[in-house]
Amino acid sequence: MPSLDLGVLISGRGSNLQAILDAIAAGRLDARVRLVISNRPGVEGLARAERAGIPTRVLPHQEFADRDGFDTAAVAALREAGATWVVLAGFMRLLTTTFLDAFPHRVVNIHPSLLPSFPGVDAQQQALDHGVRITGCTVHLVDAGTDTGPILAQAAVPVLEGDDRDALAARILVQEHALLVRALSWLAEGRLQIAPSAAPGGRARATIAGVDTALGLAQGGRAPEPVGEGA
Ligand code: GRF
Repeated sequence: MPSLDLGVLISGRGSNLQAILDAIAAGRLDARVRLVISNRPGVEGLARAERAGIPTRVLPHQEFADRDGFDTAAVAALREAGATWVVLAGFMRLLTTTFLDAFPHRVVNIHPSLLPSFPGVDAQQQALDHGVRITGCTVHLVDAGTDTGPILAQAAVPVLEGDDRDALAARILVQEHALLVRALSWLAEGRLQIAPSAAPGGRARATIAGVDTALGLAQGGRAPEPVGEGA
Protein backbone atom coordinates (compact mmCIF):
# COMPACT_ATOMS: atom_id res chain seq x y z
CA MET A 1 0.00 0.00 0.00
CA PRO A 2 1.27 3.48 -0.82
CA SER A 3 1.94 5.44 2.30
CA LEU A 4 0.69 8.88 1.14
CA ASP A 5 -2.88 9.38 -0.03
CA LEU A 6 -2.66 12.77 -1.67
CA GLY A 7 -5.16 15.41 -2.62
CA VAL A 8 -3.59 18.04 -4.87
CA LEU A 9 -4.99 21.58 -5.15
CA ILE A 10 -4.14 23.56 -8.27
CA SER A 11 -5.11 26.79 -9.99
CA GLY A 12 -3.33 26.55 -13.33
CA ARG A 13 -0.54 24.91 -15.29
CA GLY A 14 0.06 21.98 -12.94
CA SER A 15 3.72 21.29 -13.68
CA ASN A 16 4.33 20.46 -10.01
CA LEU A 17 1.37 18.10 -10.11
CA GLN A 18 2.98 16.51 -13.20
CA ALA A 19 6.24 16.06 -11.30
CA ILE A 20 4.34 14.19 -8.58
CA LEU A 21 2.50 12.01 -11.11
CA ASP A 22 5.74 11.24 -12.97
CA ALA A 23 7.56 10.34 -9.75
CA ILE A 24 4.76 8.00 -8.69
CA ALA A 25 4.67 6.37 -12.13
CA ALA A 26 8.45 5.89 -12.03
CA GLY A 27 8.34 4.32 -8.56
CA ARG A 28 10.27 7.22 -6.99
CA LEU A 29 7.41 8.30 -4.73
CA ASP A 30 5.33 5.95 -2.60
CA ALA A 31 1.98 7.71 -2.95
CA ARG A 32 -1.30 7.88 -4.78
CA VAL A 33 -3.10 10.99 -5.96
CA ARG A 34 -6.69 10.42 -4.87
CA LEU A 35 -8.11 13.68 -6.18
CA VAL A 36 -7.07 16.89 -7.96
CA ILE A 37 -9.11 19.99 -7.13
CA SER A 38 -8.91 23.18 -9.15
CA ASN A 39 -10.59 26.46 -8.26
CA ARG A 40 -10.47 27.35 -11.97
CA PRO A 41 -12.12 25.40 -14.79
CA GLY A 42 -10.29 24.44 -17.97
CA VAL A 43 -6.73 24.75 -16.66
CA GLU A 44 -3.84 22.66 -17.96
CA GLY A 45 -3.38 20.91 -14.62
CA LEU A 46 -6.83 19.35 -14.89
CA ALA A 47 -5.93 17.90 -18.29
CA ARG A 48 -2.72 16.50 -16.84
CA ALA A 49 -4.71 14.76 -14.08
CA GLU A 50 -7.25 13.39 -16.52
CA ARG A 51 -4.50 12.00 -18.75
CA ALA A 52 -3.14 10.15 -15.71
CA GLY A 53 -6.59 8.80 -14.82
CA ILE A 54 -6.83 10.83 -11.61
CA PRO A 55 -10.31 11.99 -10.46
CA THR A 56 -10.77 15.77 -10.68
CA ARG A 57 -13.13 18.32 -9.17
CA VAL A 58 -13.59 21.94 -10.14
CA LEU A 59 -14.71 24.18 -7.28
CA PRO A 60 -15.00 27.70 -8.74
CA HIS A 61 -14.23 29.91 -5.75
CA GLN A 62 -16.58 32.68 -6.91
CA GLU A 63 -19.52 30.30 -6.51
CA PHE A 64 -19.01 30.21 -2.74
CA ALA A 65 -20.24 32.90 -0.37
CA ASP A 66 -16.90 33.06 1.44
CA ARG A 67 -13.57 31.30 1.94
CA ASP A 68 -15.05 29.09 4.61
CA GLY A 69 -17.68 27.79 2.19
CA PHE A 70 -15.03 26.91 -0.38
CA ASP A 71 -12.85 25.23 2.24
CA THR A 72 -15.75 23.18 3.64
CA ALA A 73 -16.55 21.86 0.15
CA ALA A 74 -12.88 21.10 -0.57
CA VAL A 75 -12.45 19.20 2.72
CA ALA A 76 -15.58 17.14 2.01
CA ALA A 77 -14.37 16.24 -1.49
CA LEU A 78 -10.90 15.32 -0.25
CA ARG A 79 -12.24 13.16 2.58
CA GLU A 80 -14.67 11.41 0.25
CA ALA A 81 -11.78 10.65 -2.11
CA GLY A 82 -9.66 9.22 0.73
CA ALA A 83 -6.97 11.88 0.75
CA THR A 84 -5.11 12.19 4.04
CA TRP A 85 -2.36 14.60 2.88
CA VAL A 86 -2.84 17.72 0.76
CA VAL A 87 -0.37 19.35 -1.62
CA LEU A 88 -0.86 22.93 -2.77
CA ALA A 89 0.77 22.87 -6.19
CA GLY A 90 0.32 26.35 -7.63
CA PHE A 91 -2.93 26.84 -5.74
CA MET A 92 -3.48 30.58 -5.61
CA ARG A 93 -5.92 30.85 -2.69
CA LEU A 94 -5.48 31.25 1.03
CA LEU A 95 -6.93 28.49 3.19
CA THR A 96 -8.84 29.06 6.42
CA THR A 97 -8.55 27.12 9.66
CA THR A 98 -11.63 25.17 8.52
CA PHE A 99 -9.36 23.50 5.98
CA LEU A 100 -6.13 23.42 7.99
CA ASP A 101 -7.76 21.92 11.09
CA ALA A 102 -9.12 19.07 8.92
CA PHE A 103 -5.55 18.09 7.92
CA PRO A 104 -3.34 19.11 10.85
CA HIS A 105 0.34 19.35 9.80
CA ARG A 106 -0.63 17.59 6.59
CA VAL A 107 -0.95 20.43 4.10
CA VAL A 108 2.23 20.98 2.06
CA ASN A 109 3.04 23.97 -0.17
CA ILE A 110 5.73 24.67 -2.73
CA HIS A 111 6.82 28.30 -2.96
CA PRO A 112 9.31 29.82 -5.44
CA SER A 113 11.60 31.64 -3.02
CA LEU A 114 13.78 30.95 -0.02
CA LEU A 115 11.22 31.75 2.66
CA PRO A 116 10.81 33.85 4.72
CA SER A 117 12.06 36.07 1.86
CA PHE A 118 9.48 37.01 -0.77
CA PRO A 119 6.22 35.42 0.41
CA GLY A 120 2.98 35.90 -1.52
CA VAL A 121 2.50 36.44 -5.22
CA ASP A 122 5.25 36.71 -7.84
CA ALA A 123 8.12 35.77 -5.60
CA GLN A 124 10.47 35.60 -8.60
CA GLN A 125 9.84 39.24 -9.56
CA GLN A 126 10.17 40.24 -5.90
CA ALA A 127 13.63 38.59 -5.87
CA LEU A 128 14.68 40.42 -9.05
CA ASP A 129 13.36 43.73 -7.77
CA HIS A 130 15.29 43.29 -4.54
CA GLY A 131 18.52 42.45 -6.35
CA VAL A 132 19.29 39.24 -4.46
CA ARG A 133 22.01 37.00 -5.96
CA ILE A 134 20.57 33.79 -4.61
CA THR A 135 16.95 32.75 -4.41
CA GLY A 136 15.34 29.34 -4.68
CA CYS A 137 12.31 27.41 -3.55
CA THR A 138 10.83 26.13 -0.31
CA VAL A 139 8.58 23.22 0.59
CA HIS A 140 6.75 23.93 3.82
CA LEU A 141 3.75 22.93 5.89
CA VAL A 142 0.89 25.38 5.62
CA ASP A 143 -0.36 27.39 8.56
CA ALA A 144 -2.86 30.24 8.72
CA GLY A 145 -0.35 32.83 7.49
CA THR A 146 0.83 33.51 3.93
CA ASP A 147 3.82 31.20 3.30
CA THR A 148 4.74 31.23 6.99
CA GLY A 149 4.42 27.57 8.00
CA PRO A 150 7.19 25.23 9.18
CA ILE A 151 9.86 24.74 6.51
CA LEU A 152 10.55 21.18 5.33
CA ALA A 153 13.25 21.69 2.70
CA GLN A 154 14.84 24.36 0.52
CA ALA A 155 16.88 24.51 -2.68
CA ALA A 156 19.05 27.46 -3.67
CA VAL A 157 19.05 28.87 -7.20
CA PRO A 158 21.35 31.65 -8.51
CA VAL A 159 20.03 34.83 -10.06
CA LEU A 160 22.10 35.25 -13.23
CA GLU A 161 23.17 38.41 -15.05
CA GLY A 162 20.43 39.43 -17.49
CA ASP A 163 17.70 37.31 -15.89
CA ASP A 164 14.16 38.44 -16.44
CA ARG A 165 11.19 37.13 -14.48
CA ASP A 166 10.51 34.25 -16.87
CA ALA A 167 14.12 33.08 -17.08
CA LEU A 168 14.45 33.07 -13.30
CA ALA A 169 11.06 31.41 -12.81
CA ALA A 170 12.02 28.63 -15.24
CA ARG A 171 15.32 28.00 -13.43
CA ILE A 172 13.56 27.85 -10.07
CA LEU A 173 10.79 25.61 -11.43
CA VAL A 174 13.27 22.84 -12.28
CA GLN A 175 14.26 22.81 -8.63
CA GLU A 176 10.65 23.04 -7.40
CA HIS A 177 9.80 19.80 -9.16
CA ALA A 178 12.78 17.97 -7.67
CA LEU A 179 12.39 19.43 -4.18
CA LEU A 180 8.66 18.78 -3.94
CA VAL A 181 9.00 15.14 -4.94
CA ARG A 182 11.91 14.65 -2.60
CA ALA A 183 10.09 16.24 0.33
CA LEU A 184 7.00 14.14 -0.30
CA SER A 185 9.11 10.99 -0.42
CA TRP A 186 10.49 11.87 3.03
CA LEU A 187 6.95 12.30 4.31
CA ALA A 188 6.02 8.94 2.78
CA GLU A 189 8.92 7.41 4.69
CA GLY A 190 7.46 8.77 7.93
CA ARG A 191 10.43 11.06 8.60
CA LEU A 192 8.44 14.17 9.61
CA GLN A 193 8.77 15.34 13.19
CA ILE A 194 7.01 18.44 14.51
CA ALA A 195 8.58 20.27 17.42
CA PRO A 196 6.26 22.72 19.14
CA SER A 197 7.64 26.18 19.73
CA ALA A 198 9.81 26.58 22.79
CA ALA A 199 8.49 30.13 23.32
CA PRO A 200 4.80 30.86 23.97
CA GLY A 201 3.19 31.97 20.72
CA GLY A 202 6.33 31.10 18.71
CA ARG A 203 6.45 29.00 15.62
CA ALA A 204 6.51 25.22 15.43
CA ARG A 205 9.48 23.64 13.65
CA ALA A 206 9.41 20.73 11.29
CA THR A 207 12.32 18.32 11.11
CA ILE A 208 12.90 15.62 8.55
CA ALA A 209 14.82 12.90 10.34
CA GLY A 210 18.02 11.54 8.87
CA VAL A 211 18.36 13.55 5.65
CA ASP A 212 19.92 16.80 4.49
CA THR A 213 17.05 19.10 3.57
CA ALA A 214 19.19 21.95 2.19
CA LEU A 215 19.86 21.50 -1.51
CA GLY A 216 22.90 23.36 -2.84
CA LEU A 217 23.11 26.09 -5.38
CA ALA A 218 21.86 24.87 -8.75
CA GLN A 219 24.27 26.55 -11.17
CA GLY A 220 22.61 27.60 -14.38
CA GLY A 221 19.48 25.64 -13.56
CA ARG A 222 21.14 22.24 -13.58
CA ALA A 223 19.98 19.86 -10.89
CA PRO A 224 22.20 20.05 -7.81
CA GLU A 225 24.30 17.11 -6.79
CA PRO A 226 22.14 14.75 -4.73
CA VAL A 227 22.38 15.49 -1.04
CA GLY A 228 21.67 12.99 1.70
CA GLU A 229 20.29 9.53 1.24
CA GLY A 230 17.45 8.49 -1.02
CA ALA A 231 18.62 10.93 -3.71
C1 GRF B 1 5.02 27.44 -9.00
O1 GRF B 1 6.07 28.34 -9.22
C2 GRF B 1 4.70 27.34 -7.53
O2 GRF B 1 5.82 27.42 -6.72
C3 GRF B 1 3.85 28.56 -7.34
O3 GRF B 1 3.05 28.63 -8.49
C4 GRF B 1 3.71 27.98 -9.56
C5 GRF B 1 2.81 26.88 -10.03
O4 GRF B 1 3.31 26.21 -11.15
N1 GRF B 1 3.13 28.47 -6.07
P1 GRF B 1 2.59 24.86 -11.64
O5 GRF B 1 1.11 25.17 -11.72
O6 GRF B 1 2.91 23.78 -10.67
O7 GRF B 1 3.19 24.61 -13.00
